[in-house]
Amino acid sequence: MNSRIAVVTGGLGAIGLATCRALAQANFKVIAADLHASQSRWDDIQMSMKNLNIHFEPVDVSDFSQCASFVQQVESLHGPISVLVNNAGITRDGVLKKMEPADWDAVISVNLTSVFNLCRQVVDGMSERGYGRIVNISSIIGQTGQFGQSNYAAAKSGMHGFTMSLAREVARKGITVNSVSPGYIKSAMTDAVPQELRDQILASVPVGRIGQPDDIARAVAFLCAEESSYLTGVNLPVNGGLFISF
Ligand code: CAA
Repeated sequence: MNSRIAVVTGGLGAIGLATCRALAQANFKVIAADLHASQSRWDDIQMSMKNLNIHFEPVDVSDFSQCASFVQQVESLHGPISVLVNNAGITRDGVLKKMEPADWDAVISVNLTSVFNLCRQVVDGMSERGYGRIVNISSIIGQTGQFGQSNYAAAKSGMHGFTMSLAREVARKGITVNSVSPGYIKSAMTDAVPQELRDQILASVPVGRIGQPDDIARAVAFLCAEESSYLTGVNLPVNGGLFISF
């Protein structure tokens, strides 16, 4: 069988790259979608990926019309998209009383509106073909909230509502829609958290370590497998036991 096409947004970040690698190793042809990548950065990434079947396409996921052209471009160059991993995300942390409308808008549009923008473009094709896997990368913050992250928590919680609703809409079409909620994972985003707070977080993680991008990639690849067809509308927390609930 030809490789299925998987798109990973935020594909050049820590979790994004690990997810691209895991999906390529699972025999997908992977499109790493991100804002931009210089040729030298992309060459370095490809070297580190040891020639896995991964390609780069630029897109601003917060822009609906760019998402439409992006999907057209990917499908004409590579083939129909079977898997969409909505992983692109940013933070603009700040307590609400100091938060500017621009900080709110940026986080909601990159983290949440992006999920609408891309799902809206791919669900028709997936439905016609009777097959699809959509995974939305949320966050533990969407489950617990966090001091200074009202914008980010709102976006990440919103992804769950979106996931559960779309899962119901497309269940009869062979499409599953799930979310993954990472805890604190080694990345540029968590490296920016003040050291004192990072030490506190690490001390409270039951498994005793910060997560690695591969911890998330493994969960995503599981949800993207053809065999995972009976799993839909769920949130899979991957947080080292930091937040345990049912
Ligand atoms: N709980 C309760 N009170 C807190 C607090 C907390 N977690 N953190 C700070 N405070 C208190 C401080 O003690 C201080 O109190 P006083 O005024 O009485 O002294 C007050 O709140 C103001 O604190 P700051 O000086 O830190 O306020 P600030 O405006 O300078 O900064 C902030 C606020 C930007 C939110 C900063 O605290 C911060 O960067 N926090 C980290 C936010 C965070 O956890 N981000 C996670 C990013 S990683 C991620 O998001 C990935 C993922 O999915 C998990």
